[in-house]
Amino acid sequence: MSHDRKFFDTFMLIIGALVLFSVAMIILSEVVGGRAQESFLSEDPAVIGMIEEQIEPFGKVAVAGQDAPPVMAPPPVSVQPAVVAVVEEVSGEDVYNGACAVCHTAGIAGSPKTGDVAAWSSRIAKGAETLYANAINGYQGEAGVMPAKGGRADLTDEAVRAAVDYMTAQSQ
Ligand code: HEC
Repeated sequence: MSHDRKFFDTFMLIIGALVLFSVAMIILSEVVGGRAQESFLSEDPAVIGMIEEQIEPFGKVAVAGQDAPPVMAPPPVSVQPAVVAVVEEVSGEDVYNGACAVCHTAGIAGSPKTGDVAAWSSRIAKGAETLYANAINGYQGEAGVMPAKGGRADLTDEAVRAAVDYMTAQSQ
């Protein structure tokens, strides 16, 4: 009887020790493995490469004299005079649709609506030269602000004059 008891006590002691040991091993492997995993991720060049690729900016500013020649070199385009002539020969209607219609078709921001004879009669009375100058240089009137060239600095004075002609022709 006491022999059984002794065996049982020893047996339980060993089982307890084994359980403690395995719990300790689990904790140890977590600590060691966790650290190793972390350093694998933060040091592995493949992983770093992937992260850098994903957080790369979409565009880069090219700084004169610092960036690679292909980025900086102006494209060697030899513009043929004939091509330029074609480009500049846009009609007043085209210029109007591209640069002025956004405000003047609906009369946005106080702009005189194209086709509104009453709104245009007093303006047309100022004379074409005044209207050209105000459209090209910009104009602050009582109704609002007419931005220079309708905000399209790329337009030639010619193109703006053509658009003014088109607008006034539509509005009288
Ligand atoms: C951002 C809106 C906007 C755009 C784009 C715009 N205009 Fe105007 N324009 C105005 C406003 C507002 C006025 C009225 C200003 C006032 O009389 O108070 C005006 C007035 C004018 C006038 C009358 C000026 C005067 O002396 O009475 C002409 C001409 C004119 N615009 C031409 C153009 C042409 C041509 C374009 C395109 C190249 C253009 N506008 C694009 C807002 C715009």
